[in-house]
Amino acid sequence: MTLCPTGDLVNEAREAGRAVVAFNVITLEHVEAVVAGAERAGFPAIVQVSENAVRFREGDVLPLARAAAACAEASSARLSLHLDHVTDAALLRRAHDAGFSSVMFDAGAAPYDENVRVTREAAAWAHQHGLWVEAELGYVGGKPDAPASAHEDGVRTDPGEAAAYVAETGVDSLAVAVGSSHAMTERTARLDHDLIGHLAAGLDVPLVLHGSSGVPDDELRRAVAAGMTKVNIGTALNVAFTSAIRDHLGEHPEVVDPRTYLRGAREAMASAVAHLAAVVSEPPTRQQ
Ligand code: G3H
Ligand code: ZN
Repeated sequence: MTLCPTGDLVNEAREAGRAVVAFNVITLEHVEAVVAGAERAGFPAIVQVSENAVRFREGDVLPLARAAAACAEASSARLSLHLDHVTDAALLRRAHDAGFSSVMFDAGAAPYDENVRVTREAAAWAHQHGLWVEAELGYVGGKPDAPASAHEDGVRTDPGEAAAYVAETGVDSLAVAVGSSHAMTERTARLDHDLIGHLAAGLDVPLVLHGSSGVPDDELRRAVAAGMTKVNIGTALNVAFTSAIRDHLGEHPEVVDPRTYLRGAREAMASAVAHLAAVVSEPPTRQQ
């Protein structure tokens, strides 16, 4: 199937009162697992490549982007490609030619005025090049450069400020800080569902939840019911991938062929993808 634009998948989900799930990929096995899991679940999904993943590829976005596009185009699932957590303007400018239909420009760590200034500029350029734009206000912690915990005062997204931010920057969607935190390996996060409801009611753009690996299934369902439309998941796939490899090598220390352990790691991720895609996308969600 041809690639879908991310904006279409998000807007369709919003109109249907559900969300679309977005998975961060690092290796080809991650990509294959997202494709297989989305097919198995029967729901659309967004394949995301982060700036950190590009950095891991020695700064070259094309190998992973092209592999993701090839796998997605060969799939029966509806999939889009999204460039995630971009802080580098040079990488932003490569998004369209690398095959992405959307980008998250990440100035969430900056003070409000600076965030508005750089995001407005990035969004204008991205729109001229046909890209759908996500940005962040508030700060979802847990990244290596995180200035604060997601639970400290002042870090969560303020609804009034969010409305002004969307109007001033012209972004198409907003990542908000509502209690989740990046890179959690245990699913213990508790979200502020009242805040999600206030943000959804006050904004005319879809909301994005980052750091969703640490959010339990029932909290994810409640977040979607309260108005969350795009749900980003990365670490959960890495937990599945690494656990499967660790277990396999523990039982078979003589193994040297990577296919022997990557097969199981890929299947573990596909199973996680299928489960999480269903949790996030299954209707009816807003009635709960
Ligand atoms: O943008 C990516 C997500 O926020 C992933 O966060 O690795 O904590 O699931 P996570
Ligand atoms: Zn994130």
